[in-house]
Amino acid sequence: MMEIRSFRPGDAPEISDVIGRCLREVNSRDYPESVITLMCEHFTAGRIAELAGERQMFVAVEDGTVVGTVSRDGNKVFTMFVRPGTIGRGVGRQLMRHIEALAAAEGHAYMETGASISAHGFYQRLGYLDVRTSETDFGLNYILRKPLP
Ligand SMILES: CC(C)(COP(=O)(O)OP(=O)(O)OC[C@H]1O[C@@H](n2cnc3c(N)ncnc32)[C@H](O)[C@@H]1OP(=O)(O)O)[C@@H](O)C(=O)NCCC(=O)NCCS
Repeated sequence: MMEIRSFRPGDAPEISDVIGRCLREVNSRDYPESVITLMCEHFTAGRIAELAGERQMFVAVEDGTVVGTVSRDGNKVFTMFVRPGTIGRGVGRQLMRHIEALAAAEGHAYMETGASISAHGFYQRLGYLDVRTSETDFGLNYILRKPLP
């Protein structure tokens, strides 16, 4: 049984671990080692706790273990990561549905995300459309939007 709930301060180390695993095991297929190292250094537990103060952060929890996370600032999506062993089981879609519903309830017309090369197909599958690309410190990023009901 999986539940989606708001971030609690005690989640920060586990979220940092999930993100680190994703970066090393999944994103490393699409990005050079230097970028992966930079990103791992960026998403420390301390930084996660800081980000949770700036945005609304959520975790997907299964049997007491954090299996995914996402955060939002209004209609903008940030830090979407699913534990590698849990990838492909619908956790990402459920997390996105959760924050899309919150943004829609606030009256936002669309959701916007910046996608890594690794997650581009995921967002397209969820109905997101390409708007443009951008270059970040971490390399190529796709900006996509999805109309909200
Ligand atoms: C991208 C990610 C969040 C997807 O999470 P997930 O829980 O595996 O996704 P889901 O199982 O909910 O997949 C939903 C749908 O998208 C599809 N999908 C998932 N990842 C995909 C990808 N990389 N490319 C194309 N389609 C993808 C699934 O097949 C599924 O399709 P369906 O409609 O046929 O069922 C996860 O793979 C991940 O954390 N990747 C590494 C970190 C990352 O890149 N995060 C994004 C940073 S911008």
